[in-house]
Amino acid sequence: MRTLAVLSRKGGTGKTTVALHLAVEAERAGRKTLVADLDPQRSTSEWYRERVRDLATPLVAEAKVGTLFTQRLGAAREGYDLMVIDTRPSTDLECAEAVRWADLCLIVVRPCYFDLKAITRTVELVGNMNKRGMFLINQAPSRRNGEEPRIISDTFEALLEMGLPVAPVGLRYRAAYQNSVREGRVAQEIDPTSLAALEVNALWGHVSAAIWPERAAPAAGAGPLAMVS
Ligand SMILES: Nc1ncnc2c1ncn2[C@@H]1O[C@H](COP(=O)(O)OP(=O)(O)OP(=O)(O)O)[C@@H](O)[C@H]1O
Ligand SMILES: [Mg+2]
Repeated sequence: MRTLAVLSRKGGTGKTTVALHLAVEAERAGRKTLVADLDPQRSTSEWYRERVRDLATPLVAEAKVGTLFTQRLGAAREGYDLMVIDTRPSTDLECAEAVRWADLCLIVVRPCYFDLKAITRTVELVGNMNKRGMFLINQAPSRRNGEEPRIISDTFEALLEMGLPVAPVGLRYRAAYQNSVREGRVAQEIDPTSLAALEVNALWGHVSAAIWPERAAPAAGAGPLAMVS
């Protein structure tokens, strides 16, 4: 079983949204997935309470620092392929525990100055624990008059300078991400042909290649940024 930790020291970057969309995408790709909700706010668990009325997967389990190790062992024994850990906005002990077990740490960042400033401590945490990290640009503004807003390429460049790869597909700011989770769903389930579905699927391709590098095509991995319109 592999583990994906979704992190950012800043609140509201989209950790929970990203964790849930990727967990559902992983299930759709045939990976038995468990989401560990390590955030005491329990947003992920609330999403699951809504979902479980008619859908059981991906399973969400509330977790604490002291329970994560045993939950991982149990999940591995039960044949899970992937554990996605949703964390709270910090770099504290809880976050460190998620990083400890992670095969990949996905660091979610909005394309804005304050998020970039706050991300340094998260990068240090991942580096100090010798873990693999990847940045994800989330809530990226749409093109204006066909032009990509400059803040996106500036953020991409600034993140690359921090020494970790950046997922070559970011997620745009889209209402579909907000509306779907309210119903215990994710955007690709509400409309599998939507742009949100397209970008989540593309993102999952890169994230899964980083989680299972031995199965990835040689060219897979981070490259130049190619945002979905
Ligand atoms: N790509 C996106 N497009 C539009 N809205 C988004 C996107 N990603 C997240 N959001 C919205 O931003 C808000 C914060 O998202 P979310 O709760 O996932 O962040 P978080 O990092 O988990 O927050 P916290 O730090 O409190 O745990 C929510 O209202 C969510 O719907
Ligand atoms: Mg959250």
